[in-house]
Amino acid sequence: MKRRSFIKNAAALASVTILPSSAWALAKNGKLRTAHIGVGGMGGSDLKSISSHNMIEVTALCDVDTNSLAAAKKLHPNAKVFSDYRKLFDELGKNIDAVVVSTPDHTHAPASIMAMNMGKPVYCQKPLTHHVSEARAVRKLAEDKKLITQMGIQIHSFKEYRSAVSLIQGGIIGKVHTVRAWSPKNWGYDGPAPTGSDPIPNTLDWNLWLGTAPERSYKDKYYHPGNWRKILDYGCGTLGDMGVHIFDTPYTALALDVPKTIKTSCRKPTGFGHPEHNIVTYEFPGTKFTTGSLKWVWYDGPGAPNNHKDLDLPNNDKLPNQGSMFIGEKGRLLLPHFAYAKLIVNGKYEKIDFPTLENADHYHQFVDACLGKDETSAPFSYAARLTEAILLGVVANRFPDETLHWDNASSSFSESAANSLLGGNYRSF
Ligand SMILES: NC(=O)c1ccc[n+]([C@@H]2O[C@H](COP(=O)([O-])OP(=O)(O)OC[C@H]3O[C@@H](n4cnc5c(N)ncnc54)[C@H](O)[C@@H]3O)[C@@H](O)[C@H]2O)c1
Repeated sequence: MKRRSFIKNAAALASVTILPSSAWALAKNGKLRTAHIGVGGMGGSDLKSISSHNMIEVTALCDVDTNSLAAAKKLHPNAKVFSDYRKLFDELGKNIDAVVVSTPDHTHAPASIMAMNMGKPVYCQKPLTHHVSEARAVRKLAEDKKLITQMGIQIHSFKEYRSAVSLIQGGIIGKVHTVRAWSPKNWGYDGPAPTGSDPIPNTLDWNLWLGTAPERSYKDKYYHPGNWRKILDYGCGTLGDMGVHIFDTPYTALALDVPKTIKTSCRKPTGFGHPEHNIVTYEFPGTKFTTGSLKWVWYDGPGAPNNHKDLDLPNNDKLPNQGSMFIGEKGRLLLPHFAYAKLIVNGKYEKIDFPTLENADHYHQFVDACLGKDETSAPFSYAARLTEAILLGVVANRFPDETLHWDNASSSFSESAANSLLGGNYRSF
């Protein structure tokens, strides 16, 4: 395929149209024809979950690694295979009804925006985008085109998390003033950028893997697969990875929007990897479920969280490995990732009357919404705001110990140096 000049900035990205926007129509058999971009790793799991719906016809598979592509093709022999999503849209755009994007984070917005410009509903993995400006562009496009969308935070649909939302909103601990959340996972890298290059595996198209990201030599084990999360140009560190899942419930339960201030405690920036240990403190404007403002503190990296009296449990119980603690006027609610919540009042556990809820299938919800039979619970209108809040913390980890002030209306920081990190420099590839 002839390399086209690609994307200059997120605004231009939102206006890229490679084919006339076409209203999608289902296959003759009434099935929803899907295209899957990124079918290894989580993409393989997304493919299985979406195609387990009996009204799905998997029509196109795209991956830059032929090993992943071959494994997916085995399961869906009738699907056409591609290594370049632009070629997929060019060739097959009129024959697909919905798109699933499960690539590394830096390709989420470029691929989703291209699909949405063609009028396609999109299921995109979390975090919705790699940059704040992309989150705003993706949201606007989805809203302007009134598209069905869903971000891949499947836990959003789990009954344990939905019941916590209902308990908090029902006032079980009164108005909430603080949430502390943690993950000891380490999707950071404190070392130097590697030097030299390794031979590119003959199964991998490295140029397409890089996509709109800056040119860089291939190095084994640093990027593909999975480890790209640790690197600034492709991933969003542990906060962007686990924070999206773990913050999702507090974000919904407390009806939060974007924060006012963010301050990160972490090592000095290296210009290459995300920090391995972060404590990120946000202040959000108050809502009807919070006191005058809401403090959210995120801890990540090995050993997280740090000791804090808010996290002491009755009977000297051990904190769950990952999760969050809501601290309100009348008590605390512990929400393990992911299990039912526990109520703590005056240092003792109290019984909870949980609402009766069933698990919803996040993937089938998207398919059913495309078929006009349901609504998605994490559409881009929601997911972009949650992602923006998370990504502002990711930006803050480039300015350790400095309080950054975010202005929602102008979509900018008062600290001008931080504004240069809100968007990407897109490479033509
Ligand atoms: N919701 C969840 O629970 C969950 C869990 C794991 C990962 N994820 C998300 O899924 C996404 C993928 O993560 P992963 O762990 O599977 O990564 P990975 O690196 O293991 O797999 C990514 C796949 O996408 C392919 N790919 C890369 N660039 C591509 C491109 N331009 N076009 C087509 N294919 C491309 C790779 O070859 C690989 O098969 C990330 O956004 C991650 O945050 C979500």
